[in-house]
Amino acid sequence: MLKDFHSNTKNIRNFSIIAHIDHGKSTIADRLLEYTGTISERERKEQILDDMDLEREKGITIKSKAVRLHYRAKDGNEYVLNLIDTPGHVDFSYEVSRSLAACEGALLIVDASQGVQAQTLANIHLAVKNNLKIILIINKIDLATADTEKVNQELKNIPELKEEEEVILASAKEGIGTSDILEAIVNKIPPPSGELNLPLRALIFDSIYNPYQGTIVYVKVVDGIIKPGIIIQTMSNERKYEVAEVGVFRPNMEPTKKLIAGEVGYIKAGFKNIKDTQVGDTITDASNPARKSLSGYKKVTPLVFCSIYPIDNKEYENLKAALEKLKLNDSSLFSEPETSQALGFGFRCGFLGLLHMEIIQERLEREYDLNLIATTPSVMYQITKKDGKTIKISNPASFPSKIEIEKIEEPYVKVNIITPSQYIGGIMDLVQDRRGTFKNMEYIDEKRAILDYDLPLNEIILDFYDKLKSRSSGYASLDYEFISYKQSDLIKVDILANHEIVDALSFIVHKDKAYYRARKIVEKLKEIIPRQLYQVPIQASIERKIIARETIKALKKDVIAKCYGGDITRKRKLLEKQKAGKKRMKRLGKVEIPQEAFLGILKIE
Ligand code: GTP
Repeated sequence: MLKDFHSNTKNIRNFSIIAHIDHGKSTIADRLLEYTGTISERERKEQILDDMDLEREKGITIKSKAVRLHYRAKDGNEYVLNLIDTPGHVDFSYEVSRSLAACEGALLIVDASQGVQAQTLANIHLAVKNNLKIILIINKIDLATADTEKVNQELKNIPELKEEEEVILASAKEGIGTSDILEAIVNKIPPPSGELNLPLRALIFDSIYNPYQGTIVYVKVVDGIIKPGIIIQTMSNERKYEVAEVGVFRPNMEPTKKLIAGEVGYIKAGFKNIKDTQVGDTITDASNPARKSLSGYKKVTPLVFCSIYPIDNKEYENLKAALEKLKLNDSSLFSEPETSQALGFGFRCGFLGLLHMEIIQERLEREYDLNLIATTPSVMYQITKKDGKTIKISNPASFPSKIEIEKIEEPYVKVNIITPSQYIGGIMDLVQDRRGTFKNMEYIDEKRAILDYDLPLNEIILDFYDKLKSRSSGYASLDYEFISYKQSDLIKVDILANHEIVDALSFIVHKDKAYYRARKIVEKLKEIIPRQLYQVPIQASIERKIIARETIKALKKDVIAKCYGGDITRKRKLLEKQKAGKKRMKRLGKVEIPQEAFLGILKIE
């Protein structure tokens, strides 16, 4: 059991690390862990908090992590520092806002060679909204391309940071600045303001599911004390549980005797279902309940949707179970059963963004060994029908026909792009082409500008980010947030293979772009779909009217024809190879369509 060497909140500091992607949050966290002896030299590996396989592989943080450090400061006192590492990618900004609500301060990291980026600004706004004390850190000063003076000036130009005087210069790689950062945390971030004597109030900021122990909730205790044996209740639904264990993250879970006001830790209490312990809910003492719950979080709503089907229909139950398990640890993942004429039984899933979608698909395939087909991502449309009813639809296959529709609205986002000025022209062309409305442009220094646009979300989920990067040689950065639904002139385009509609390939598009896209998609499908035994026409149609067509010629030879039935091992090898090639094909009527065809639609310019 870990010793409790504090008895009040004065020596506690709760902080987050925020930054644009890749500016060095996780590496700074590593240095803080080592400096405070939280991890030993032996346990040392890079980005220790990114422990999910995919996180390590992609070098990004997906889920927030909490860890407790013990630090003896220069003033001679021992402090408990709770660090919450947060993801930097725009898809996961909801994780950032959850974590920030559990903190009193934030370390803002800026890369010394890249300077302020779109998510730097977004994170500053979030931190200010949560009343956090911001500590400014310029990281990677070891780089030859570092320009600390310039970055310093950029930070000074940000209105919210005007008051901040001290900027810490650091190199997480070389361990420079680590002790300055720790001293700043202790001296500048205020201790949590909770009251030990008030009834218990603990904010749930995350929860995880463990197959052996059930749901474990991560909390920040705001008021009161929580210890094993007491009966707690969730304030939103008044469910009661007996606390089995409380503890802190070091970075693994370690039990403690209690958690007091101001502390960050975990609770195990036989929670059956992750849904019973919603992130943002308040936990209180059932025998002495608090009157008012803490202000929770905005519920996250998925923005991007796609359908996921098993290639082999027999795997449906496995897919169902796998999605349920992933949902236990990811409250932002949405899924509901769906059937497709083309693909059989599967699920319509909702995600925070494209990266989130890719990650879930990859986890399903890797961790659950599933072979899947995922359809083209789409957004949620709001349709008012002539009979006055309003429906929300994300799947183009269930789009009503034109005569039933009064109006269609689509989600719009406010987009901020930061770019070196020489790329502004190219970026403006790109945004205009994506139906963007120009709002504002400002220079953050003499060489870089921030562009503000309103754009349909549908236009950026596909390949906007890649295009933005290529038009700016990788220098532009992007942040966006949902603003509202707006009316649009949208239509559904169906794709037919061998005269049958492949519902999973239908897509919604702006009227002005329908013909061009349909043409391109049909051409692309012709390239992707392998030749079959028959000639296969590929067509695009709007309201049953064909607007584009290509023909895939019939296959002439069988791969084993040339083996003359002679060498059986060679024949078997060829058949194996052919089978492997087929793995990702889905038979639709007479036509075999590879997974790429569904994604191919994405890659069209
Ligand atoms: P996300 O979690 O994906 O948002 O990234 P992050 O901000 O946590 O960045 P991370 O710590 O993963 O670092 C990104 C890259 O920068 C890694 O390759 C690090 O090794 C490198 N890096 C971090 N700090 C420094 C530094 O001080 N100097 C140099 N040269 N490289 C650094």
